[in-house]
Amino acid sequence: MVPRASLLNKCYMALEFAGRQLRYLIETYPDYFPMYTVNGKWKHEGEAWTNWCEGFLGGQLWLLYEHTGDPWWREKAEHYSRLIEHRKTDRTVHDLGFLFWPTWKRWYDLTGDESINQVVIEAGRTLALRFQEKGGYLCSFVAENSLFIDIMMNVGIIFYAAQQTQDERLWDIAYRHCLTTRRVLVRGDGSTAHEGIFDTETGEFLRQSTHQGWRSDSSWARGLAWALYGFGTAYTFTNDARFLATAESCAHYYIERTPEHGVPPNDWDEPNPSLPYESSAAAIAASGMWNLAKLTGDPTRGRLYREYALRILDTLTEPEFLAIETPGWEGVLKHGIYHLRKGLGVDESVMWGDYFFLEVISKVIRDA
Ligand code: GLY
Repeated sequence: MVPRASLLNKCYMALEFAGRQLRYLIETYPDYFPMYTVNGKWKHEGEAWTNWCEGFLGGQLWLLYEHTGDPWWREKAEHYSRLIEHRKTDRTVHDLGFLFWPTWKRWYDLTGDESINQVVIEAGRTLALRFQEKGGYLCSFVAENSLFIDIMMNVGIIFYAAQQTQDERLWDIAYRHCLTTRRVLVRGDGSTAHEGIFDTETGEFLRQSTHQGWRSDSSWARGLAWALYGFGTAYTFTNDARFLATAESCAHYYIERTPEHGVPPNDWDEPNPSLPYESSAAAIAASGMWNLAKLTGDPTRGRLYREYALRILDTLTEPEFLAIETPGWEGVLKHGIYHLRKGLGVDESVMWGDYFFLEVISKVIRDA
């Protein structure tokens, strides 16, 4: 399905607006890596919980460079990518895909420069060091006994490093992580749990749990969006139909449970949520569904995912979500939620929401 001209215009307008907001951000707060806004402002002393967002700023700058061809964006994109290079050996987070895929991988794809590729590969190797042999999973930053659904968005960088180096051990780690996540965190109805807890002595899976969702047996919307997108990526590397089926089942759950406008609450199961929207989950799901539309072998489902992604974009490009008519707001998308229980980034702009919003807009424009 080709997007309507009016929606394409909204996408161009949103990209231009994002460019203005990002230019303001990097000129006003040079070398600052924001995570979420407070009352619409990026710079504050709020807690981070974990440092996983530093690739999303450079990633947006690369996207703007690709869209405009303007060397100013290129120079900033390289600068903000270089600022995070040292994180390629960071063993404290499970987010090396989030850090290096939007930045150094994009940079490598544009240049073919092998020294840039080596940074991406090293990040993949570092992430693989989180592998827990007994349970067969990459552990989260929280503890060795903890598996997060979010890691499905990061495991791709290990598949990539394995392909580039022909390292079968890396490939096996990434593959087993995906199979374990599918087994213990994705439920029969396509919903997902945020976290799985293991016995590290035996490798036995003990229970589902959550940090950012409502309950251990509920469906945190962003977690499901990470799974929808991440299992699609796992399929592109492996061609394993189980991963495609899992991604599609997550997509169907998203579509079934979300209101007509396409933006879910923080958790679908929370009774009477105080806030109706988690816009970053919608941006991630739109981008993941745009990918799935090309991956699925079924034309009807392909059309469904494409149309649904466009429906989400139609909603997110309205001034209720796009901050274009909100004076003084520094982010791009409003109504994101980072960590509801901790009260961090609640009903604010979040860096990954803006990144995935820009990513899917870029794909829609490119494919139009
Ligand atoms: N830490 C990843 C997320 O909040 O989705």
